[in-house]
Amino acid sequence: MVRCSAPGKVILFGEHAVVYGEPAIAIAVDRRVESTIESSSSETSVNGYKIEEDRHKYIYQCIQESGIEDHLEIVCESEIPSGAGMGSSAAVTVSIMAALDGVKGVDLDRYELARRAFDIEWKVQGSASPIDTSTAVHGNAIKLSKKKEKDFLWDVKKNENEWYVHHLDIPDMHLVVGDTGVHAPTGPLVQKVRRFYEKSNFAKEIIEDIGALVEEGCKAVERGDVEKIGRLMKEDQKLLSILGVSHPRLEALIKAAGRFSYGAKLTGAGGGGAMVALTDEPEKVAEAIKKRGGTPYIIEATKEGVKKEK
Ligand code: MEV
Repeated sequence: MVRCSAPGKVILFGEHAVVYGEPAIAIAVDRRVESTIESSSSETSVNGYKIEEDRHKYIYQCIQESGIEDHLEIVCESEIPSGAGMGSSAAVTVSIMAALDGVKGVDLDRYELARRAFDIEWKVQGSASPIDTSTAVHGNAIKLSKKKEKDFLWDVKKNENEWYVHHLDIPDMHLVVGDTGVHAPTGPLVQKVRRFYEKSNFAKEIIEDIGALVEEGCKAVERGDVEKIGRLMKEDQKLLSILGVSHPRLEALIKAAGRFSYGAKLTGAGGGGAMVALTDEPEKVAEAIKKRGGTPYIIEATKEGVKKEK
């Protein structure tokens, strides 16, 4: 029996633009997916149900990729709400892939795992950046850039894009996620932005503006300047809504959190899903989110990336 776990994430800056090679920053959070795999004498199952390609898209593709043909009993337990922009599919993919490697007796190779898990996300979603999968592997916080910088971890290539993934130290800061409850899978939102991007120079400019904002955001993170981080979060939110990925429920939660926050924005793919607020008063923000009908999660950053559990 092999058991592995991987964390979810929030994107502080740069979602969507990162798909086009622009920089982005993500923070691993203390909510994890734990996957347990053992061989089985009956058909391969996931949480007691026979595995199906459509229903268990990521897990199915991971098994195909592993080349394992034996029957497996898979249990996948998640503390991360799905379709809420918190990287649940990446945490599933990374923890399952690590556990399948364990079944094969292969040692955990973070660099290879980050690349392979990204390939699975790309295959299932039709397009993606390596931000979610690399955060699930590395934990901590990461910055993706167009070029190699200090604290470089690994690079990931796909078609015309090459992302350089870096470890990033973040200041102590309090983040509250607010789930709108509007389920919004990433793939269709990424496709929606791609259609806009391919038709319009204006969309390309917005993507580039987000990239420039992320570089500023990174400097603010390095200085621990929470006020500046908050201001940039608000600006990023404006640019994301021009791209068409906000949602009235997101706007309502962002407004509700705003009174007690340095800044707030959607996190992940948007279109529903979740927002994140940076605050010194997490309890008050959580209460405000709840009052507006959202589900709040006061989250802590975690240093722990993918790991083998006992
Ligand atoms: C999803 O968490 C973030 C997006 O930028 C998609 C991706 O980077 O794969 C929307």
